[in-house]
Amino acid sequence: MLRRLHPDQPESFAFTPANLKWAEAQISKYPPGRQASAIIPLLWRAQEQEGWLTRPAIEYVADMLGMPHIRALEVATFYFMFQLQPVGSVAHVQVCGTTSCMICGAEDLIGVCREKIAPEPHQLSPDGKFSWEEVECLGACSNAPMVQIGKDYYEDLTAERFAEILDELAAGRVPVPGPQNGRYASEPLAGLTSLGEYESGRTQYNASVQLAVDLGDTVKRIDGSEVPLRTPWLKGAAPKKAAGAGKGSAPSARTAPAAAPGGAPKPKKPRALKAPRKSGADDLKKIRGIGPKLESLLNEMGYYHYDQIARWTAAEVAWIDENLAGFKGRASRDGWVEQARALAEGGQTGVSRGAGN
Ligand code: FES
Repeated sequence: MLRRLHPDQPESFAFTPANLKWAEAQISKYPPGRQASAIIPLLWRAQEQEGWLTRPAIEYVADMLGMPHIRALEVATFYFMFQLQPVGSVAHVQVCGTTSCMICGAEDLIGVCREKIAPEPHQLSPDGKFSWEEVECLGACSNAPMVQIGKDYYEDLTAERFAEILDELAAGRVPVPGPQNGRYASEPLAGLTSLGEYESGRTQYNASVQLAVDLGDTVKRIDGSEVPLRTPWLKGAAPKKAAGAGKGSAPSARTAPAAAPGGAPKPKKPRALKAPRKSGADDLKKIRGIGPKLESLLNEMGYYHYDQIARWTAAEVAWIDENLAGFKGRASRDGWVEQARALAEGGQTGVSRGAGN
């Protein structure tokens, strides 16, 4: 199947503040130079925020990770879980069409989709509320046929019950997920033949459905109001004391501005150049965390060379952090000064090593 970007794209994308915080926490899981490893969770979060993955969202995530846009596009177009076209505002329905579901009635469910949503997969319903597609086995074969709607599974379906579920969703209600034929989980239809003694102590629904009911977020978009990502790997990682920087050398940008609550340096604009030197501008994208957008922003501000960045003091890093529209805090978070110092001295960063130069 050919997967292309949709012809109609929005102007821009930005994570909500809470999702941005979540994304930055994800990136912090990976060692310096390996932040591109966070591409899948970040693209997924962007999709969960918007419903589908837009070109601006793909490029935004690539910039966050200091990756060329084409590499993020490769990931987004490779994996079928990324929706490259608008989906229904209420729900995108995924009908399992693999063996167990197929022989138990998946074609009837697809018939319901064609009739009630749209004749073809990935088309929006006339009211824009629903879209659908056929997917491969979703791993609930013993409860076939089934569909995934939002985050939850609706199992043991008939065409009639599935049509009712769509009607309920269209009316703003979220039906209880799980088996729809009276089964508790995936026990025999005639009831348990063993372990029956455990029946009395169980919750109203099986564990998956109980959690779905408790959370109540089946078709809810991720908007950043969820429980924040826990970051135990950052605990105890107290910023190191800035090494006594000698004259002419920059203090640790990663630690200096953020490390001193109440005693943070007063931001001061670093000296800028009107144009790059005759030898030409350095490739600032070799600094981890700087993508094409940040590079042109820095150039516009008058910063073209590694040695300029390498000389920034803590106060200057604080100023840069505050004045990077849309990228606040990046200079200290990604340790630009240390990386620039290595590059200015002919060394390498994780990014330049990865690029093979
Ligand atoms: S075949 Fe449908 S869930 Fe496995």
